[in-house]
Amino acid sequence: MSSPVRKAVIPAAGYGTRFLPVAKAVPKEMLPLVDQPVIEHVVREAVESGIADILIVISRSKRAIEEHFHPAHELEAELQAKGRDEELERLRELHRLANIHYVWQPRMGGLGDAVLQARFHVGNEPFAVLLGDTVISTEGERPLTRQLADVVESRGGSAVALQEVPLEKVQRYGILGGDDLGGGLIFGRQFIEKPRPDLAPSRFAVCARYVLSPAIFEQLQATPKGKGGELQLTDAMAGLMQREALHGLLFAGQRHDIGNKLDFLKANVHFGLKHPEIGDSLRQWLRDLLRDSP
Ligand code: G1P
Repeated sequence: MSSPVRKAVIPAAGYGTRFLPVAKAVPKEMLPLVDQPVIEHVVREAVESGIADILIVISRSKRAIEEHFHPAHELEAELQAKGRDEELERLRELHRLANIHYVWQPRMGGLGDAVLQARFHVGNEPFAVLLGDTVISTEGERPLTRQLADVVESRGGSAVALQEVPLEKVQRYGILGGDDLGGGLIFGRQFIEKPRPDLAPSRFAVCARYVLSPAIFEQLQATPKGKGGELQLTDAMAGLMQREALHGLLFAGQRHDIGNKLDFLKANVHFGLKHPEIGDSLRQWLRDLLRDSP
């Protein structure tokens, strides 16, 4: 019903105000989950979803992201000379991972404005959007972006990832209301960015992953500024829903929002416990810590 999803856009230009002062000079997307920056997890999700063309939207003080995926010839030569083959292979794998491109978002104008910067790169085909500060673990299931791409490739239109949240938290998210099609699919009817609880059309919150029809670009250009004086992707999707299908997919999995301090620490424990080098020691340390704490 729709052409295959071949491109992904990763917005990573935001100031990271929830994570100051560290986010002043270090992009929050470069904060580590053990030894791997958050954005590498996000790029890997796109790649594991069959998408190798990736556009990262950056801004001032985000250059470390470019450096991370760019070859480091001197460092690689040094590792080679020292016979550090494992580390060398890990670095080389990084710049073979995908075709990564960058575009600057000149002014911080909201998520809609960030996505709009991708219009020339994406052209006229469906594309994925993965927020660069959020890692999703689907534990053995297909990656979430792949699941959304499957919905769009078979049904057309656009698709967004959803999680049910308590009513008192709806004000933090884009909330989608619609018809339940079964199997975790919702046919979107109403979409509101950060509604008051009494105005929320449901408790289904959009969670950092989208596969969008290219018609979103035209819609974004016609959408006025919304919440917070910013161009909201949610508002443009709400407009697009009048013309094209938009499906929500309730997914099973865990969302790690790295811009949030507590989630960042929890994510490090989550990935630390699975880490082949430190997992066992971390588990033991946590057991001791909890046993000894009052
Ligand atoms: C953005 C979107 C919102 C979405 C949220 C989580 O909000 O505007 O619709 O629910 O991400 O993916 P932000 O967290 O940037 O304020």
